[in-house]
Amino acid sequence: MDRDDRLKSELAFQADRASRIGRIHPTPGHVVERYREARYGRLFPAEFLFAHLKDIRDTEVLDFGCGDGAVSVIMARLGARVTAADISPELIDVARQRAEVNGVADRIHFIERDITAAPLRANQFDFAVCNLVLHHVDLRSVVPLIVASLKPDGTVVVVEPIAFSPWLQRVRDRVPVDKRASPGERPLSEDEVNFVVNELVGPERTYFNLLGRLRRLFPNRHKTDTGYSVTRACLFLLYGLDRLLLTVFPGLQKFCGSVAIVGKKPAAVGDTAVDRLRRDTPATAPTGASPSLAGPAGAAAWNAAPRGHG
Ligand SMILES: C[S@@+](CC[C@H](N)C(=O)[O-])C[C@H]1O[C@@H](n2cnc3c(N)ncnc32)[C@H](O)[C@@H]1O
Repeated sequence: MDRDDRLKSELAFQADRASRIGRIHPTPGHVVERYREARYGRLFPAEFLFAHLKDIRDTEVLDFGCGDGAVSVIMARLGARVTAADISPELIDVARQRAEVNGVADRIHFIERDITAAPLRANQFDFAVCNLVLHHVDLRSVVPLIVASLKPDGTVVVVEPIAFSPWLQRVRDRVPVDKRASPGERPLSEDEVNFVVNELVGPERTYFNLLGRLRRLFPNRHKTDTGYSVTRACLFLLYGLDRLLLTVFPGLQKFCGSVAIVGKKPAAVGDTAVDRLRRDTPATAPTGASPSLAGPAGAAAWNAAPRGHG
């Protein structure tokens, strides 16, 4: 499947997903508080993400592949100014409605584009969040753009599904669980995770979903913020056991279903890349602003920059 076909299938898949989202309600205050505190960042991937954003008041945050805006809205309610980018017009529409019912429409700027064509600028964001999106895209053209869009010392936080073990993947393929997926998506391989890690300075990876995969046995697993205390207790048990097992036997990582990565923009490399972007993309750079990263010139310039790490 070529790139255009892949984007078309992604758009159709996400339009269908958006059509199944019901009425949009404000995110309850206790959920926002749970993510502000993010006390269980070592157990659950979503809390890991917020634990690493820490205090995001008055920061600029990119939510790449924002989907229905659930994460963007929480970040805006925690005080960030969010740029929420997604290729799907239907999901951006849902995310806009979510921002409005949450009273944060003025804190979220939406970009409805394929990320490689989005008008991102170099040195724009304090944080970039990639939650369950990198496994939909070509990492070599996208990750360098995201990293370049960070300010010097900016941080990227990534949470993605992985499949390092081919036989486990084959078992998963045979288990009758809901595996609805867009045609271009795939769990990241070990090489792909290494590629992401090597784009960052001081990267840390944390693995999740060893026994946590069994969460799928709990149909109410997404509703534990509104009750379902037995499901909640079981999830704590599964994710707690995972942390224990992965600490004692780190080799079990290769059987996990998700990884979270956090790391910083490489300062020296970033400057070099930005210099190249200034030289290579003068026509697209607004006067006085950082150079645009859209299009192949931006990606190529960053890709061509020397790597002094990893
Ligand atoms: C699995 S969803 C994750 C949504 C959201 N981050 C979340 O955590 O709920 C992946 C999202 O990535 C978006 N996406 C896929 N390819 C993209 C691209 N090339 N540019 C921008 N967004 C893209 C999809 O439209 C979809 O909303």
